[in-house]
Amino acid sequence: MPAMLVTGANRGIGLEFARQYAADGWSVIATARKPEAATELTAIGGVEVKQLDVADADSIDAFVAALGDRPIDLFVNNAGVYGSRDLDREDWLKTLEINSVAPTLLAARLKPNVAASEHKKMAVITSKMGSIADNGRGGAIIYRSSKAAVNAAWKSLAIDFADAGIAVVILHPGWVQTDMGGPNALIDVETSVSGLRAVIDALSLQTSGRFTAYDGSEIPW
Ligand SMILES: NC(=O)c1ccc[n+]([C@@H]2O[C@H](COP(=O)([O-])OP(=O)(O)OC[C@H]3O[C@@H](n4cnc5c(N)ncnc54)[C@H](OP(=O)(O)O)[C@@H]3O)[C@@H](O)[C@H]2O)c1
Repeated sequence: MPAMLVTGANRGIGLEFARQYAADGWSVIATARKPEAATELTAIGGVEVKQLDVADADSIDAFVAALGDRPIDLFVNNAGVYGSRDLDREDWLKTLEINSVAPTLLAARLKPNVAASEHKKMAVITSKMGSIADNGRGGAIIYRSSKAAVNAAWKSLAIDFADAGIAVVILHPGWVQTDMGGPNALIDVETSVSGLRAVIDALSLQTSGRFTAYDGSEIPW
Protein backbone atom coordinates (compact mmCIF):
# COMPACT_ATOMS: atom_id res chain seq x y z
CA MET A 1 0.00 0.00 0.00
CA PRO A 2 1.64 3.31 -1.04
CA ALA A 3 1.89 6.08 1.57
CA MET A 4 1.19 9.77 1.07
CA LEU A 5 1.68 12.77 3.32
CA VAL A 6 -0.38 15.95 3.00
CA THR A 7 0.01 19.15 5.05
CA GLY A 8 -2.80 21.53 6.04
CA ALA A 9 -5.32 18.70 5.76
CA ASN A 10 -7.95 19.78 8.29
CA ARG A 11 -9.92 21.77 5.69
CA GLY A 12 -10.13 22.78 2.06
CA ILE A 13 -7.96 21.20 -0.62
CA GLY A 14 -5.77 19.31 1.88
CA LEU A 15 -8.78 17.62 3.47
CA GLU A 16 -9.97 16.48 0.04
CA PHE A 17 -6.50 15.08 -0.77
CA ALA A 18 -6.66 13.00 2.42
CA ARG A 19 -10.20 11.85 1.58
CA GLN A 20 -9.47 10.81 -2.01
CA TYR A 21 -6.19 9.00 -1.36
CA ALA A 22 -7.66 7.20 1.68
CA ALA A 23 -10.66 6.14 -0.44
CA ASP A 24 -8.22 4.71 -2.98
CA GLY A 25 -6.61 2.58 -0.29
CA TRP A 26 -3.45 4.62 0.22
CA SER A 27 -1.91 4.92 3.63
CA VAL A 28 -2.48 8.62 4.46
CA ILE A 29 -0.56 10.75 6.93
CA ALA A 30 -2.38 14.08 7.19
CA THR A 31 -1.20 17.04 9.21
CA ALA A 32 -3.06 19.78 11.04
CA ARG A 33 -1.94 22.59 13.31
CA LYS A 34 -4.57 21.51 15.83
CA PRO A 35 -5.33 17.79 15.39
CA GLU A 36 -7.83 17.88 18.28
CA ALA A 37 -9.98 20.34 16.30
CA ALA A 38 -9.60 18.50 12.96
CA THR A 39 -12.90 16.68 13.26
CA GLU A 40 -13.63 16.23 9.55
CA LEU A 41 -10.16 14.84 9.01
CA THR A 42 -10.23 12.42 11.93
CA ALA A 43 -13.65 11.22 10.75
CA ILE A 44 -12.02 9.79 7.59
CA GLY A 45 -11.26 6.17 8.32
CA GLY A 46 -7.66 5.03 8.25
CA VAL A 47 -6.03 8.46 8.12
CA GLU A 48 -3.17 9.13 10.56
CA VAL A 49 -3.48 12.69 11.81
CA LYS A 50 -0.26 14.36 12.99
CA GLN A 51 0.44 17.79 14.46
CA LEU A 52 2.42 20.16 12.24
CA ASP A 53 2.64 23.93 12.21
CA VAL A 54 4.92 24.68 9.27
CA ALA A 55 5.73 28.13 10.69
CA ASP A 56 7.19 26.54 13.83
CA ALA A 57 10.68 25.03 13.56
CA ASP A 58 10.18 22.92 16.71
CA SER A 59 6.96 21.50 15.30
CA ILE A 60 8.75 20.58 12.05
CA ASP A 61 11.62 18.96 14.00
CA ALA A 62 9.23 16.90 16.14
CA PHE A 63 7.17 15.84 13.12
CA VAL A 64 10.18 14.75 11.05
CA ALA A 65 11.74 12.94 14.02
CA ALA A 66 8.52 11.01 14.67
CA LEU A 67 8.34 10.01 11.01
CA GLY A 68 11.79 8.45 11.24
CA ASP A 69 12.84 6.57 8.13
CA ARG A 70 9.32 5.66 7.06
CA PRO A 71 9.02 5.61 3.23
CA ILE A 72 6.68 8.27 1.77
CA ASP A 73 5.63 7.62 -1.83
CA LEU A 74 4.07 11.05 -2.27
CA PHE A 75 4.58 14.26 -0.32
CA VAL A 76 1.96 16.94 -1.03
CA ASN A 77 2.83 20.32 0.46
CA ASN A 78 -0.57 21.95 0.56
CA ALA A 79 -0.59 24.19 3.68
CA GLY A 80 -0.67 27.84 2.73
CA VAL A 81 -2.02 31.27 3.55
CA TYR A 82 -3.13 34.22 1.43
CA GLY A 83 -1.57 36.89 3.60
CA SER A 84 -2.51 40.52 3.73
CA ARG A 85 -3.53 42.55 0.68
CA ASP A 86 -1.68 45.48 2.23
CA LEU A 87 2.08 45.76 2.26
CA ASP A 88 2.59 44.79 5.87
CA ARG A 89 6.19 43.82 6.65
CA GLU A 90 5.48 41.26 9.37
CA ASP A 91 2.68 39.64 7.40
CA TRP A 92 4.83 39.44 4.26
CA LEU A 93 7.65 37.67 6.15
CA LYS A 94 5.17 35.30 7.81
CA THR A 95 3.54 34.49 4.47
CA LEU A 96 6.93 33.83 2.90
CA GLU A 97 7.76 31.53 5.79
CA ILE A 98 4.56 29.48 5.38
CA ASN A 99 4.22 29.49 1.58
CA SER A 100 7.86 29.46 0.43
CA VAL A 101 10.43 28.62 3.12
CA ALA A 102 8.57 25.87 4.99
CA PRO A 103 7.53 23.83 1.90
CA THR A 104 11.11 23.82 0.64
CA LEU A 105 12.73 23.00 3.99
CA LEU A 106 10.17 20.24 4.51
CA ALA A 107 10.92 18.81 1.06
CA ALA A 108 14.64 18.75 1.94
CA ARG A 109 13.94 17.06 5.30
CA LEU A 110 11.61 14.48 3.71
CA LYS A 111 13.89 13.69 0.76
CA PRO A 112 15.26 10.48 2.36
CA ASN A 113 11.71 9.24 3.12
CA VAL A 114 10.55 9.87 -0.45
CA ALA A 115 13.75 8.46 -1.97
CA ALA A 116 13.20 5.27 0.05
CA SER A 117 9.69 4.77 -1.40
CA GLU A 118 8.47 3.13 -4.58
CA HIS A 119 6.69 6.09 -6.26
CA LYS A 120 9.17 8.86 -5.25
CA LYS A 121 7.03 11.95 -5.90
CA MET A 122 6.69 15.43 -4.40
CA ALA A 123 4.08 18.08 -5.20
CA VAL A 124 3.63 21.62 -3.98
CA ILE A 125 0.26 23.35 -4.16
CA THR A 126 1.18 26.79 -5.36
CA SER A 127 -0.93 29.14 -7.49
CA LYS A 128 -1.17 30.64 -10.94
CA MET A 129 -0.97 33.91 -9.01
CA GLY A 130 2.71 33.07 -8.56
CA SER A 131 3.19 33.23 -12.32
CA ILE A 132 5.00 36.42 -13.30
CA ALA A 133 4.16 35.86 -16.96
CA ASP A 134 0.45 35.55 -16.16
CA ASN A 135 0.21 38.61 -13.91
CA GLY A 136 -1.99 41.00 -15.85
CA ARG A 137 -3.91 42.50 -12.92
CA GLY A 138 -1.33 43.39 -10.29
CA GLY A 139 -2.16 43.46 -6.57
CA ALA A 140 -1.83 40.60 -4.05
CA ILE A 141 1.91 41.32 -3.83
CA ILE A 142 2.44 39.27 -0.69
CA TYR A 143 0.64 36.17 -1.97
CA ARG A 144 2.02 36.41 -5.51
CA SER A 145 5.62 36.84 -4.38
CA SER A 146 5.36 33.97 -1.88
CA LYS A 147 4.09 31.62 -4.58
CA ALA A 148 6.64 32.86 -7.16
CA ALA A 149 9.37 32.14 -4.58
CA VAL A 150 8.18 28.60 -3.91
CA ASN A 151 7.90 28.01 -7.66
CA ALA A 152 11.54 29.01 -8.13
CA ALA A 153 12.68 26.91 -5.18
CA TRP A 154 10.78 23.80 -6.28
CA LYS A 155 12.04 24.13 -9.85
CA SER A 156 15.51 23.76 -8.36
CA LEU A 157 14.36 20.83 -6.22
CA ALA A 158 13.12 19.08 -9.38
CA ILE A 159 16.62 19.34 -10.83
CA ASP A 160 18.47 18.66 -7.57
CA PHE A 161 16.36 15.62 -6.57
CA ALA A 162 16.46 13.88 -9.97
CA ASP A 163 19.60 11.99 -8.90
CA ALA A 164 17.61 10.46 -6.04
CA GLY A 165 14.92 9.42 -8.54
CA ILE A 166 12.39 11.90 -7.10
CA ALA A 167 9.95 13.58 -9.51
CA VAL A 168 8.59 16.99 -8.53
CA VAL A 169 5.53 18.91 -9.73
CA ILE A 170 4.45 22.48 -9.06
CA LEU A 171 0.64 22.57 -9.05
CA HIS A 172 -2.08 25.16 -9.55
CA PRO A 173 -5.34 23.79 -8.09
CA GLY A 174 -7.65 26.15 -9.99
CA TRP A 175 -9.86 28.70 -8.25
CA VAL A 176 -11.41 26.44 -5.66
CA GLN A 177 -14.38 26.83 -3.28
CA THR A 178 -12.61 26.79 0.09
CA ASP A 179 -12.15 29.29 2.91
CA MET A 180 -9.32 30.81 0.87
CA GLY A 181 -10.99 30.62 -2.54
CA GLY A 182 -14.38 31.85 -1.30
CA PRO A 183 -17.88 30.85 -2.43
CA ASN A 184 -17.59 32.43 -5.89
CA ALA A 185 -14.68 30.22 -6.89
CA LEU A 186 -15.10 28.29 -10.12
CA ILE A 187 -14.65 24.68 -9.02
CA ASP A 188 -15.25 22.49 -5.98
CA VAL A 189 -12.53 20.64 -4.07
CA GLU A 190 -13.49 17.30 -5.59
CA THR A 191 -12.94 18.56 -9.15
CA SER A 192 -9.66 20.24 -8.20
CA VAL A 193 -8.17 17.30 -6.33
CA SER A 194 -9.33 14.69 -8.88
CA GLY A 195 -7.54 16.71 -11.55
CA LEU A 196 -4.43 17.25 -9.42
CA ARG A 197 -4.27 13.52 -8.69
CA ALA A 198 -4.36 12.75 -12.42
CA VAL A 199 -1.43 15.13 -12.93
CA ILE A 200 0.46 13.48 -10.05
CA ASP A 201 -0.31 10.00 -11.46
CA ALA A 202 1.20 11.00 -14.79
CA LEU A 203 4.27 12.61 -13.16
CA SER A 204 7.61 11.02 -14.00
CA LEU A 205 11.27 12.06 -14.00
CA GLN A 206 10.76 12.99 -17.66
CA THR A 207 8.03 15.53 -16.77
CA SER A 208 9.54 16.66 -13.44
CA GLY A 209 9.77 20.40 -12.74
CA ARG A 210 6.68 21.58 -14.62
CA PHE A 211 4.17 24.18 -13.40
CA THR A 212 0.87 22.44 -14.13
CA ALA A 213 -2.80 23.22 -13.46
CA TYR A 214 -5.41 20.75 -12.17
CA ASP A 215 -6.66 20.28 -15.75
CA GLY A 216 -3.21 19.23 -16.97
CA SER A 217 -2.43 22.50 -18.77
CA GLU A 218 1.07 23.94 -18.38
CA ILE A 219 1.37 27.41 -16.81
CA PRO A 220 4.03 29.90 -17.91
CA TRP A 221 6.45 30.97 -15.16
N1 LIG B 1 -8.62 27.91 -2.95
C1 LIG B 1 -8.06 28.41 -4.06
O1 LIG B 1 -8.75 28.95 -4.95
C2 LIG B 1 -6.58 28.28 -4.27
C3 LIG B 1 -6.06 28.75 -5.50
C4 LIG B 1 -4.69 28.63 -5.74
C5 LIG B 1 -3.88 28.04 -4.78
N2 LIG B 1 -4.41 27.61 -3.59
C6 LIG B 1 -3.47 26.99 -2.62
O2 LIG B 1 -3.96 25.74 -2.20
C7 LIG B 1 -3.51 25.45 -0.87
C8 LIG B 1 -4.70 25.06 -0.01
O3 LIG B 1 -5.60 26.16 0.00
P1 LIG B 1 -7.12 26.07 0.46
O4 LIG B 1 -7.90 26.80 -0.55
O5 LIG B 1 -7.49 24.68 0.83
O6 LIG B 1 -7.03 27.01 1.76
P2 LIG B 1 -7.72 26.97 3.19
O7 LIG B 1 -9.06 26.39 3.09
O8 LIG B 1 -7.53 28.35 3.72
O9 LIG B 1 -6.78 25.94 4.00
C9 LIG B 1 -5.44 26.25 4.26
C10 LIG B 1 -4.81 25.11 5.04
O10 LIG B 1 -3.45 25.48 5.32
C11 LIG B 1 -3.24 25.32 6.71
N3 LIG B 1 -2.21 26.20 7.25
C12 LIG B 1 -2.15 27.55 7.22
N4 LIG B 1 -1.07 27.97 7.91
C13 LIG B 1 -0.43 26.86 8.36
C14 LIG B 1 0.73 26.63 9.14
N5 LIG B 1 1.47 27.64 9.61
N6 LIG B 1 1.08 25.36 9.41
C15 LIG B 1 0.35 24.33 8.95
N7 LIG B 1 -0.78 24.48 8.24
C16 LIG B 1 -1.16 25.73 7.95
C17 LIG B 1 -4.59 25.64 7.34
O11 LIG B 1 -4.62 25.18 8.67
P3 LIG B 1 -5.53 25.96 9.80
O12 LIG B 1 -6.94 25.50 9.61
O13 LIG B 1 -4.92 25.54 11.09
O14 LIG B 1 -5.39 27.44 9.54
C18 LIG B 1 -5.50 24.88 6.39
O15 LIG B 1 -5.48 23.51 6.69
C19 LIG B 1 -2.78 26.71 -0.41
O16 LIG B 1 -1.39 26.54 -0.55
C20 LIG B 1 -3.29 27.79 -1.35
O17 LIG B 1 -2.38 28.85 -1.51
C21 LIG B 1 -5.73 27.72 -3.31
